[in-house]
Amino acid sequence: MTHDSLVFDPTDAATVNNPYPTLLALQRDDPAHWSPRLKAWVLTRYEDVRGALASDQMSVNRLEPFYKSLPPADQSRVAELIHYLSRWLVFRDPPEHTRLRKLLMTGFSARAVNALRPGIEEITDMLLDRLPRGETFDFVNEFAMQVPGLVIMDLLGVPRDQMLRLKACSDRIQLFIGSARNSPNKYDLAEAGAKEMAAFFRELIAERRIAPKDDMISTLVAARDEMDALSEDELIAAAMLVLFGGHETTTNLLAGGMFKLVSHRDQADRLRADPALARPAVEECLRLDGPSGSMARVVAVSHELHGKMLGKADRVFAMINAANQDPSVFDNPGAFDIGRTPNRHITFGFGTHFCMGSALARMEGEVVFPRVLDRYPTLRMVTEDVDWHPTMIMRGPRALPMQI
Ligand code: HEM
Repeated sequence: MTHDSLVFDPTDAATVNNPYPTLLALQRDDPAHWSPRLKAWVLTRYEDVRGALASDQMSVNRLEPFYKSLPPADQSRVAELIHYLSRWLVFRDPPEHTRLRKLLMTGFSARAVNALRPGIEEITDMLLDRLPRGETFDFVNEFAMQVPGLVIMDLLGVPRDQMLRLKACSDRIQLFIGSARNSPNKYDLAEAGAKEMAAFFRELIAERRIAPKDDMISTLVAARDEMDALSEDELIAAAMLVLFGGHETTTNLLAGGMFKLVSHRDQADRLRADPALARPAVEECLRLDGPSGSMARVVAVSHELHGKMLGKADRVFAMINAANQDPSVFDNPGAFDIGRTPNRHITFGFGTHFCMGSALARMEGEVVFPRVLDRYPTLRMVTEDVDWHPTMIMRGPRALPMQI
């Protein structure tokens, strides 16, 4: 294979829809690949991806260099958005990260997460009741997008009827952070989304300060008051991050997972026959073509990898889904096996920034997959052609036309 054919082009529709032939070729032949188009290193082997995610030779602060590279006119267009994003712990290195994470952890106690299970079951049943019989519907829009949205509303303590409004804000912020799409006024839209979401949370935080409830916002407000640590803006930023970080990722797990299950009838039948397989099935849906395409890093200390010099300030894409198919770690990595064990996928990241919502996401999958299959054994795709989100960071189907 020539070096040129290994160029990973995320703007190419065929690559977006099925990135694996290219990624797995890179994994085999060019594991530290410089992509001229991305102007970044692309890492695809399990050990390298895991290493990059946890390495102190890498920084997660890719926001600041990007912001500085914008022309001054564009900088001022996204000033408020950046004000909050720069307070997100995903973009902070230690010691700021350590402090923020410790405070935010108070909101993710096992008690708080476990208490959400009955709500997840109720939401799942309510949405499944509404699916039409004998008509085509979009499983993403009608179901997979709504479950995690409503669950996060419950977790944070936001009234459920605000979901569509906040989702619209989140989608606008997404134009700035996670998307290769070039919408003409994406900066203005993202800034407006951030402003509206921040104003919403500012008001809710003020209400909870006066009258606390049993929800995450109240817990974080209290964490602030006891330790005098989270500022008002950090509280707002944390609420925005939880909403943003937990919604689309879990939507993609539920949508991508159901797509795999309905496309592999034997595996769906196995799960229906044995409820104990729910947990390993979720792990396999996370691993194989799961919701984490890649995570970005910036080289903090120049170092060599596979004979290439990764220079300070170079950008790096750690390709999680490719790593999850590394044959040196996973037997028969391309096979969808809901009983796979061990399953050491790194879909929730690795090291200091390991996902704080992993227990919640796993619980949603465990409730949803068996319930959908039990209630609608005839659920099927209407077409085999699936359109995927045009981004390398998140991985998930844009729509899933299905029928019961
Ligand atoms: C299937 C669903 C999910 C996936 C695949 C996922 C994936 C990830 C990954 C890969 C990271 C590490 C980022 C990095 O290393 O740069 C991360 C971090 C994080 N996730 Fe998730 N996530 C999911 C669900 C959730 C949920 C439901 C929440 C909250 C309710 C959440 C909150 C967070 C937070 C706060 C962080 C930042 C941790 C830090 O920087 O220390 N995630 N997630």
